[in-house]
Amino acid sequence: MPATLRAIHADITTLSVDAIVNAANNSLLGGGGVDGAIHRAAGPELLAFCRTLNGCATGEGKISPGFRLPARHVIHTVGPIWHGGEHDEAALLAACYRNALELAAQNGVEVIAFPCISTGVYGYPPALAAPCAISAVREALARLPSIREVIFCCFSEAERKRYERALGAL
Ligand code: AR6
Repeated sequence: MPATLRAIHADITTLSVDAIVNAANNSLLGGGGVDGAIHRAAGPELLAFCRTLNGCATGEGKISPGFRLPARHVIHTVGPIWHGGEHDEAALLAACYRNALELAAQNGVEVIAFPCISTGVYGYPPALAAPCAISAVREALARLPSIREVIFCCFSEAERKRYERALGAL
């Protein structure tokens, strides 16, 4: 069975899935946006655990338990900061999705939810990020048959519609 890809409009911290992905920064020691929301909902144990991870390079991923979250794991990745599009941003954003899915598969995750990485504070244009995310996920899933479902967890209805359109068109 091929994996299901779908877009929803939700707060990612409320999802009872095997893993949610965090759009973190290189320190993995918390921040604003979805990172702040995940740390608040997971509780201080998450920060204590993240201190042992030695940060994370842009495009790569690290895994932690979900602690007080309904999700079993958090996969922390660091998206690129948008600098106009000619500084490897698309390759780095695709690497975030690919590496998070590989880490997920290695840890027995079957259902995973992603936020729209880099499209907040890091300034990646949402209209360019969505097709990049979807193609990276499709490519990785072809090699990772244990993953059953990938949820694009959008934080606005407009973003959910953008993903729904792109999922239909790509
Ligand atoms: N659930 C789902 N999506 C959310 C939530 C939520 N609770 N909160 C925000 N978003 P951002 P970035 C969406 O800025 O651009 C942090 O300070 C948001 O609307 O969280 O990768 C880190 O520590 C947007 O669509 O992440 C880094 O320093 C998307 O999540 C930096 O921000 C990503 O926005 C990372 O910036």
